[in-house]
Amino acid sequence: MHKDIKEILYTEEQIEQKCEELANQIDQDYAGEEILLVGLLKGSVPFLAELGKHLKSDVTFDYMKVSSYSGVESKTLVVQQDLKEDIRGKNILIVEDILDTGKTLYNVKQMLLKRGVRSVKIVTLLDKEEGRVFDMKADYSGFKIPNAFVVGYGLDFNEKYRQLPYVGILKEDCYKK
Ligand code: IMP
Repeated sequence: MHKDIKEILYTEEQIEQKCEELANQIDQDYAGEEILLVGLLKGSVPFLAELGKHLKSDVTFDYMKVSSYSGVESKTLVVQQDLKEDIRGKNILIVEDILDTGKTLYNVKQMLLKRGVRSVKIVTLLDKEEGRVFDMKADYSGFKIPNAFVVGYGLDFNEKYRQLPYVGILKEDCYKK
């Protein structure tokens, strides 16, 4: 285990198992329809890759990078990198690493809905329900987690720890300096 990690919440094996379950559920719900998977950069990349391996539906991939600011601009979404594909008439499944306040996904979903899509759903690996501020629910969520700062499997602190193959709680002295 990495020296900065206090506790492993989910191992690689548990995450893989969960991705398979989520993929089966998604395949069943979309029942043969095509899906455009929209990964939010950078954190969703390992989850998107693992989930994708288990999907039997016809899927394509696209990526988006956004940031949302807090405070007075709380509803402002800054798109740093937009989708490359025309999404009109498509079934969009937004793939995210973690749902916390709900601000990011709320804003992304509203934006994509205005582009003439057929449907927009959300799948998140982790769900911090206690952190919720915006009225936002994931259609599919892997694990409900406590209100702790977690890293690994794509999640970072100052761009570090994304490569860890598990999700773990970061030691407090690593971010409260
Ligand atoms: P939200 O917009 O508040 O729902 O937060 C979503 C984003 O906040 C995620 O995409 C992460 O980048 C970040 N985030 C929230 N909680 C954590 C955490 O525990 N570890 C790492 N990043 C987090």
